[in-house]
Amino acid sequence: MTAPDINDLLARNAAWARKVEESSPGFFKGLAAQQAPKYLWIGCADSRVPANEVVGLAPGELFVHRNVANLVQLADLNCLSVVQFAVDRLQIEHILVCGHYGCSGVRAALTGDRIGLAEHWIRPVRDTMDDYRDELAALPDDDARADRLCELNVLRQTRNLIHTQTIQDAWARGQALSLHPVIYGLKDGRLRELTQPITADNQNVILPKG
Ligand code: CO
Repeated sequence: MTAPDINDLLARNAAWARKVEESSPGFFKGLAAQQAPKYLWIGCADSRVPANEVVGLAPGELFVHRNVANLVQLADLNCLSVVQFAVDRLQIEHILVCGHYGCSGVRAALTGDRIGLAEHWIRPVRDTMDDYRDELAALPDDDARADRLCELNVLRQTRNLIHTQTIQDAWARGQALSLHPVIYGLKDGRLRELTQPITADNQNVILPKG
């Protein structure tokens, strides 16, 4: 089977837009006038983790930022701008920081595989690995270590998010906002929570050691 070409994609798009408009007349006009999503998704760029689809949200319901290995880095103006716009302007109420098992970015950090420029990008994952070296070494094999590092990475990135000025300011002014570290299973399509929802009151629960 050959992959669809660009004309196929444009035809699929036309068919999709028709179908949406048929089932919800005025859908696109309404969305064009404003967006009011309640959720921000920060996830991996991986093609197997399509944000809207896995949580069943329609266009207009999920604000999305994705990068390799779902990192929240305090020097990343792209990610920080998305977070600020979502929290300050859109007043979103929930942020899902979503990692996934089988993440090749995380795996490369673990194995030291050469993957080019992305090696620099995933350097923070190696730092997390170093911080949890003993816990990871105690696991039976590289697959188990990779799975655990995917989880630890989500927790670390959530902690980075907690430390942003945007989140701290939002909580300080009493804005209702909770963070949800979650991990997606490529093998079963399921999302799992890694901690209870995090709010201003329990923001220290995450990553007690390391
Ligand atoms: Co990934």
